[in-house]
Amino acid sequence: MAALLELTDVSVRFGGLTAVDNVSLSVAAGEVCALIGPNGAGKTTLFNAVSGNAVINSGAIRFQGEEIHRLTPHQISAKGVRRTFQNGGLFAHLTALENVLVGLHTRVDSSFLGLLASAPASRRAESAATARARELLDLMQVGHVADNLASDLSGGQQRMVEIVRALATEPPLLLLDEPAVGLAPHMREQLGQIIRRLAGERGIGILLIEHAIELVMNVSDRVVVLNYGKKVADAPPAQVRADKAVLEAYLGHA
Ligand SMILES: Nc1ncnc2c1ncn2[C@@H]1O[C@H](COP(=O)(O)OP(=O)(O)OP(=O)(O)O)[C@@H](O)[C@H]1O
Ligand SMILES: [Mg+2]
Repeated sequence: MAALLELTDVSVRFGGLTAVDNVSLSVAAGEVCALIGPNGAGKTTLFNAVSGNAVINSGAIRFQGEEIHRLTPHQISAKGVRRTFQNGGLFAHLTALENVLVGLHTRVDSSFLGLLASAPASRRAESAATARARELLDLMQVGHVADNLASDLSGGQQRMVEIVRALATEPPLLLLDEPAVGLAPHMREQLGQIIRRLAGERGIGILLIEHAIELVMNVSDRVVVLNYGKKVADAPPAQVRADKAVLEAYLGHA
């Protein structure tokens, strides 16, 4: 199967530090690929490289066969690469629903303010978008706080809203940076089921950074392990669990 996302020999350096060191990996449509590794291993930096938030020093990143590593974050997002941020990326002064609508409007490239204009066509488009956004918020069990300000939501609720915002456009590729942080156990389970369904039923490719190892083992088709920026394993979950290089990365002895 042709790769949806393909990284070839990608390195990202910050001064003397090589945060991502010559990493190649691919994600196919409908595949859940987990990206794990100790703190500071380079996982978020790799996401930043894919989403255009970090400049790569060497290598290439292709999405649907096309090089994207010279594009801006906005251009990459508009092509259908959507992500969430480790430290949350909601607009605090907007409601949960408005945050999701902002995400929808980036994709169609019309400004949020444009959609608030009173032309009948944009009003119709807005109400369809609003209905869809509410449906997705319900699905993620945050429908009841749709009209609350993002800053008034719990950490777990904010995470769910952020995922809805990334999902709302049904992007071909979704990058989730530690989505389970702050989620109660039943929400984690729910999140796992949703991730599986998005990949299985909608064919979305998902790259998932996660420290919650049981979630990784339950939802992933494949697990890529980074350690000091280098890829040290790339295999199905059961195999990675038993991999010597992986154990060493986590236990910290060579
Ligand atoms: N903008 C930056 N400038 C300088 N160094 C950075 C920058 N971003 C990340 N780093 C460094 O790059 C390395 C990789 O960081 P990164 O955030 O990618 O790790 P991570 O695997 O996501 O870790 P965590 O599990 O803690 O989120 C770290 O040593 C970090 O300090
Ligand atoms: Mg990180």
